[in-house]
This record gives sequence, C-alpha cells and structure tokens, in this order.
Amino acid sequence: MPGKAGFYRTTARLLGAIDRRGLVLRYRYGDRRLLEECVLPALDADPAVVSVLLVGCAWYTRHYPALLPSAEVITMEIDPAKAVFGGARHIVADMAHVDAHIAPASLDAVICNGVLGWGLDHPAAIEAAFAGASRCLRPGGLFLLGWNDIAPRNACPPDTIAALDGLAIADIPGLRTHSVVAQARNRHCYQAWRKPLPA
Ligand SMILES: C[S@@+](CC[C@H](N)C(=O)[O-])C[C@H]1O[C@@H](n2cnc3c(N)ncnc32)[C@H](O)[C@@H]1O
Repeated sequence: MPGKAGFYRTTARLLGAIDRRGLVLRYRYGDRRLLEECVLPALDADPAVVSVLLVGCAWYTRHYPALLPSAEVITMEIDPAKAVFGGARHIVADMAHVDAHIAPASLDAVICNGVLGWGLDHPAAIEAAFAGASRCLRPGGLFLLGWNDIAPRNACPPDTIAALDGLAIADIPGLRTHSVVAQARNRHCYQAWRKPLPA
C-alpha cells in the first residue's frame, strides 16, 4: 500500500500532466479566487517585489509560484511529503525556524495562508514563526496572513500575537483594506502588515 508521500507524488504527477494541457485544477471558492485573481497578481505587479516566501503547500497551491512570475518565489512546508507541491526553490522546514533558512531582511513579502491554526498552533511556535518572518522581511516588506476566524482554527487570533505588534497594518495588495473576510462559510480572513521603515 503506497504511503502518504507516494500518494502526493502520484497526485502531483497527475495534476502536472493536466496542468501542462492548460487546465489547472484548483479550488474555485471566493477566498481562493480573491487570493489568486486579485491579491497575488497585485503583489506581482509591484516592481519592488522580487523575493517572496510562500508558507504551506498543498495540491491546490502548486501553481502559486507561477502566479508571481516577476518574483523569485521560495516555498516552505513542514511536511517533507508535500515538497512535490512546492516551487522550484523549496525548503522543508518548520516556519518557527524560518530565519535559520532565510537571510535577514532578504524578502519583499511573506505569504502565510492557512498555516496559523492548521499545524502552526502552539503560541510559542507562532511567535517564533512570525518574529522570524519579520526578521526575514526587508524594511517595507509585506506580511500577508490568511487565517480562519472559526473554532478550532482561531485559538490564537492575530491580535493576540505579540510578534505582529512590531509590524504596521497595511493594505492587502489589490484591496484598499487591511483586513477582509474572504469567505463567510469558513471565516477565511486575509490581513496585511508591513515591516516599518527605519525612522
Ligand atoms: C491548510 S494547508 C494549506 C496551506 C496553503 N498555504 C494555503 O494557501 O492554503 C496548511 C499547510 O501548512 C503546513 N504547516 C503547518 N504548520 C507548519 C509550520 N509550522 N511550518 C511550515 N508549514 C506548516 C501543513 O503541513 C499544511 O500543508
């Protein structure tokens, strides 16, 4: 019986074959469409954005690096078996140790969608992950958080995370708001911050 890694490998191979025929299978829910059709393209259109970290990989995010063609995209995922859904530059790691893998002030954006409350659960790990991501951002760099404001995913909501206090609230790329509930059913929210520029 094939294990999880074999299943993901087969899935990635099949999806890759379908993708190459031009039919990219993906979720069509409103929260995904907002991210894929508005937020990521707006981020990609920003000439200041050339280095992006995407945290958390799944079959339905395999095409996200291609949605940021102007940037060098690094993907990071704690589960080694899901590396098949990562990009060309992929790091198998716990986001809590992000700054052991990525140089300080080297990223223009960190996209952390569906990770908080989906494995990144313990308050100390969350603080380490977000503080580390903040260190990896250049001044002015963007931290985009996608999270579900619904139990049990919202045990550690953003306004309780001290590491975010060091960042300034910002507009979500493509939207004129810091915060949006992109899908009512699962309370999938996007929120954006920027690392402050030096005074
Ligand atoms: C709900 S999935 C999909 C996330 C994806 N980024 C998205 O846009 O939906 C959450 C993923 O985050 C990964 N994950 C959970 N905790 C993590 C951590 N501490 N560091 C890196 N990846 C983590 C899980 O293994 C899982 O593949």
